Amino acid sequence: MLKSACLALIALTTSVVGVPAINSFEIPDNLPANETELSPPYTYVLPTDYAPKSHGIPYTILNQSAKPWEHLNQPPARQATKLTSRACTPLTANNPSSWWYESITHNGQSSFMSSSYKSNYKVFRNVVTDYGADRTGATSANVAIQNAIQAGASNGPNRASNSMGTTGQPAVIYIPSGTYLLTGSLQLYVGTVLVGDPINPPVLKAAANFPSDHIIYGKDPNHDGTINFYIGLKNVIIDSTAVSPSQNIALLDWTVSQATQLANVVFNMPNYSTGHVGVTSQYGYNSNVILNDLTFNGGAYGLKLSGQQWILKNIKTSGTTTGIQVGGFNLVCLACSFTNAATGIDATGVSASLVVIDSSGTSIGTFVSGTNNGGAGNSIILENIQNSGTTVKLSGVTVLSGNVADTWVYGNMYARGSNSPQHVNGQSVTTPRAAALLSNGKYFTMAPPTYQKYSVDQVLNIKNVAGLPVYGDGATDETNNINAILSQYAGCKIIYFPAGTYIVTNTINVPAGSRIYGDAFGTAISALGGNFYNPAAPATMVKVGNAGDVGVAQITDMLFTVADVLQGCKLVEVNIAGSNPGDVGFFNTHFRIGGAAGSKVETNCGGTPDQCKAAWGLIHLTSTSSAYIENMWGWTADHDLDGGNGATISSGRGLLVEATKATWLVGTAMEHHTLYQYNYNNAKNVFSAFQQSETPYWQGPGNDLAPAPWASNLIASDPDFSNCAAADSTCRMAFFERISGSSDLFLYNGMVWAFFNNGGGCNGDCQKNAVEITSSSRLYIYGQNVKAVTNIFLEGTTVVATESANSGGWGGVVAAYLRDT
Ligand SMILES: *[C@@H]1O[C@H](CO)[C@@H](O)[C@H](O)[C@H]1NC(C)=O
Ligand SMILES: *[C@@H]1O[C@H](CO)[C@@H](O)[C@H](O)[C@H]1NC(C)=O
Ligand SMILES: *[C@@H]1O[C@H](CO)[C@@H](O)[C@H](O)[C@H]1NC(C)=O
Repeated sequence: MLKSACLALIALTTSVVGVPAINSFEIPDNLPANETELSPPYTYVLPTDYAPKSHGIPYTILNQSAKPWEHLNQPPARQATKLTSRACTPLTANNPSSWWYESITHNGQSSFMSSSYKSNYKVFRNVVTDYGADRTGATSANVAIQNAIQAGASNGPNRASNSMGTTGQPAVIYIPSGTYLLTGSLQLYVGTVLVGDPINPPVLKAAANFPSDHIIYGKDPNHDGTINFYIGLKNVIIDSTAVSPSQNIALLDWTVSQATQLANVVFNMPNYSTGHVGVTSQYGYNSNVILNDLTFNGGAYGLKLSGQQWILKNIKTSGTTTGIQVGGFNLVCLACSFTNAATGIDATGVSASLVVIDSSGTSIGTFVSGTNNGGAGNSIILENIQNSGTTVKLSGVTVLSGNVADTWVYGNMYARGSNSPQHVNGQSVTTPRAAALLSNGKYFTMAPPTYQKYSVDQVLNIKNVAGLPVYGDGATDETNNINAILSQYAGCKIIYFPAGTYIVTNTINVPAGSRIYGDAFGTAISALGGNFYNPAAPATMVKVGNAGDVGVAQITDMLFTVADVLQGCKLVEVNIAGSNPGDVGFFNTHFRIGGAAGSKVETNCGGTPDQCKAAWGLIHLTSTSSAYIENMWGWTADHDLDGGNGATISSGRGLLVEATKATWLVGTAMEHHTLYQYNYNNAKNVFSAFQQSETPYWQGPGNDLAPAPWASNLIASDPDFSNCAAADSTCRMAFFERISGSSDLFLYNGMVWAFFNNGGGCNGDCQKNAVEITSSSRLYIYGQNVKAVTNIFLEGTTVVATESANSGGWGGVVAAYLRDT
C-alpha cells in the first residue's frame, strides 16, 4: 500500500582498499508525490485521502457469458475410473542438454477471453522460433523480444492496451540459451513471465551505447506498483559489462508487488562500476514478498530497493560496492553472501526491522550499516553470521565486529519471562534451532524446482493424455480426469498444467510421487459446486497426500482459487511429509479469492461479508505433514483486478499450521482473511522467514464483528474472540497470528498492516490485537511489526506488548519476543 512524503539523509562514508568511497548525498523533502525520483532511505506516511482501490484494469474483451457456475460442461463419457496398472516407469534423472519446458507442447489459454480472440491468443512465445530474435549476439534482439511480450490475440488488442484485466493476458516469453544483444529496453506488463533455459541461461547483453536508464522495466507502466501482480523473470543472465562503468544504468526495474517472481537471475556488471545497479524499484510504491536465488557480479549496488518489505533469499554479490540497499519497513536476508564489497547491506533506511540469517561477508568493509535510533525502530537481528571485519555499524559507529554465532539483537526485546520491553543495543541471545529444520547447520532452503535433470519424455502435458481429456478451459468439470492422471502417473511423470482455468467440483488428490508444474500465474485450479458448500464439514479442493504418507509432492507455479462463493471450501490441505527437506513443497504458488474473471466471487460480492463467505480457508498443514513453502501470496481480493465490481469478501482462514515434524515458510503473505492470517495450532518445529499480512478492509466498527460471519461454524483451532467485549469492534478483527499449544517456532519478521475500518479511514489504531499466544513454549519471534494495531502480543487475555511501548517503523516493532518455557 501507498504513499509518502519523505525526508532523509544518507551519509555513507565507507572505504575499502580498491573500492571507491561512496559520497554523501541528501534527499530533498519536496519530491513529487509519485515518488519516482526517490532513493532510499525514506519514511512512508499514508496520505489522508488514502482509500481502498475501487477499480482494477478493465477486461474489455472478456467473454461476459463465461460463467462456469451457471453452465458447467461435463467431460466426454470416456473417463477412466479405476486404473490398475501403471503405464510408465519411475522417474530417474537423465540430465538432458535442453530443458523440457522449451520443447513440450504448450497449449495454454486465457480461459475467459471472448471466443473471437481466445483461440488466437498464445500464452507461450519462443522469442527465437516465433519472433526471430537473434540468439548469436550479432544483431539487436530487443525489438523481437518486445514483440513477443507485446502480442495479444493476433486479431485483437495487444498486451500494452489495458484491455485484458490483470488476469486475462498471461504470457510466457521463453528465451532459449544464447546471447541476445539489446540496444533498447524491454518493458513488461502484468501477466508477463520472462523465462530462460536454466540449463544454459540466456544472456541479455546491453550494447555499449545502451540508450536508456534501465535494461528491463518490470513494472507495468500503466499501473501503480502496488497492483503490479503476476510478473516474473527467471533463469536469465543480464549483462551490462559492455556499458561504460560510469553510465547510470539499472539492469532491472522491479517496482512490483505480491505474486511476482524474480528468481535464478545473474546480473553481470563491471566491477565496482559507479553507475550500474542490478535491481531498482524506483517507479512508485510497491509491496513485495520475495526475490530469490540471485547473483550480482560487479556494480555500484546489487539491489537498491525502496518500497514496503522484502525477503531476499540466497543473494550473492561479488565486486559490488554495496550489495543491498533498502529503504522501507522490513527486510529479511536469508542465506546471503557478500564478497569484495564496501558494504554488504545498507539498512540505514530500514525503519522497522532488519533480519539477517545464515549469511556471510568476505573481504568487505561493513557487513550491515544501520541507524542508531535509540528506540524500537531500525531494529536489527543477526543470526549465524560469518564476517571477519566490521559486522554492524550504526549511524557510522562500529558496534560489532566478527562472527555472530547465535543471535544478536538491537532494538526492543521481551526477554524470557519478561513482560516489559528492554531496549538492547546489541545483546546476544540463544536461539536453539530445531535440528529437523537444519541442513549443514543452516536453516534448510532450496531453489524452486525446474526439473531440468529430466527430459521432455518424462513430463506429461495434462491436456494431452489420450483417453483422459482435460481442457483447462474454465468451462469443463475436470475433476475425474485430473484425478485419474495424477494417480496413474505419480512417481513416473512430472505433470505440466498449461495456462488456463481447471474447474473442479470435488477433491483433487495429489498422491505421493507428484511433481506438478504450471505456467506461472496463468494456471489456476478453481473450485465449484455443492461439494464445497458446507462450512460445518469443509471439503478440500487440493489434498496433498494422506496422513502417514512419506514421499515427494511438489507444486510449482500454480494458482488456487474458487469459481463460486464456497463457504465449505478448504483450498489446500497437506498431509504428506517428505523423506528429505523440500520433497514436499510449494513454490511460487498462490491463492486468489475473488477479484478476477471466471468467478462468481468477482461479480456477486459487492454486498455484505455474510453474503460472500467465499472460502472456508486457504491452506492447512496437518499434524502429519512436513512442507517447504516459498513465495506464496494467500490473497482474498480487496478490489476487482479485472474491472470495477465491489469486493466485500469474507474468507474464513488464512494459513493453519498443525504440522510438527518440520515446516519451512520462506516468503509468505496472507491478506484479508476474517478470523486469522496465520494460526499455529499444536504446531512444532516451524521456521518462518517473512510473514506479511493485512486485515480485511471491511472489518472494524460499522461492519460484521469477528467471528461473524463465521460464528456458527468455528472449529477448536479458531479464535472465538471471547477475549473481546460483545460490542468491541476493533477487538473483533482478524488476528494476524494465533499461537496455541505450540513449541519450537522460529519466526522472523512478521508484519501486520491495518489501514481501514469498514472500508474507510480510521484514526490512530484501526485494530486492537495482532498476536495471541496461549499454552506455548520455546517461541523465538524476531521482528514483529504492526501498523495501527494497539496490542502487538497478548498472552491469553493479558496484553504484554503494545504498539505505543514499541513505537517505531510503520507503527510498532518488537525486535525479539522470547518465550523459552
Ligand atoms: C511523477 O510526477 C512528476 C511531477 O509531477 C511527473 O512529471 C512525472 O511524469 C510523474 N511520473 C509518473 C511515472 O507518474
Ligand atoms: C462464452 O463462453 C461460453 C461458455 O464457455 C461459450 O459457450 C460461448 O461460446 C462464449 N462466447 C463468446 C462470445 O466468447
Ligand atoms: C571482476 O573481478 C573478478 C575478480 O577479480 C574477475 O574474475 C572478473 O572478471 C571481473 N569482472 C569484470 C567484468 O571485469
